[in-house]
Amino acid sequence: MKKASSKKAALKKTPSRKAASLKLLVLHGPNLNLLGLREPEVYGKMTFAELNSKITAFAKKEKVTLKIKQSNSEGELIDILHSVRTWADGIVFNPGAYTHYSYALRDAVASIEVPTIEVHLSDIYKREEFRRVSVIAPVCAGQISGLGLESYLEGIRRLIPARKK
Ligand code: DQA
Repeated sequence: MKKASSKKAALKKTPSRKAASLKLLVLHGPNLNLLGLREPEVYGKMTFAELNSKITAFAKKEKVTLKIKQSNSEGELIDILHSVRTWADGIVFNPGAYTHYSYALRDAVASIEVPTIEVHLSDIYKREEFRRVSVIAPVCAGQISGLGLESYLEGIRRLIPARKK
């Protein structure tokens, strides 16, 4: 009796051979919560909830553990980035208009040293002059712009090789 239960306990202690699931944060910046209502001729009619459910379905298919967050405030976005510093294997970040001028967000991305892909729904290079500059992209592992939902999915795909063994 005693022998059997100690065997069971030993089995329980055997480390799992399964590769750890990749942990990613999808972070949306200002005004993205209004997707679907906001300038549909630029951003399309997909709502924020629909966008997130498609991202969630894709992550599930890819066996990625996902957190999705959104904030309209620069300080809160910085706090969110800091909070995932030791949790996330990668970040897909749409900084919205902060892309073009937030040195504080740039410093936050650089500080946490988590591979980050900057994404945009619209093509920032085919719009107003001020959108053509990203102060955040130089500290990111890549930038994807103009593919709508696919910008986010491609961002996730690019981070998948970072999966922890
Ligand atoms: C955006 C592009 C930014 O220039 C703009 O300020 C946004 C959305 C995009 O996803 O296309 O808010 O990041």
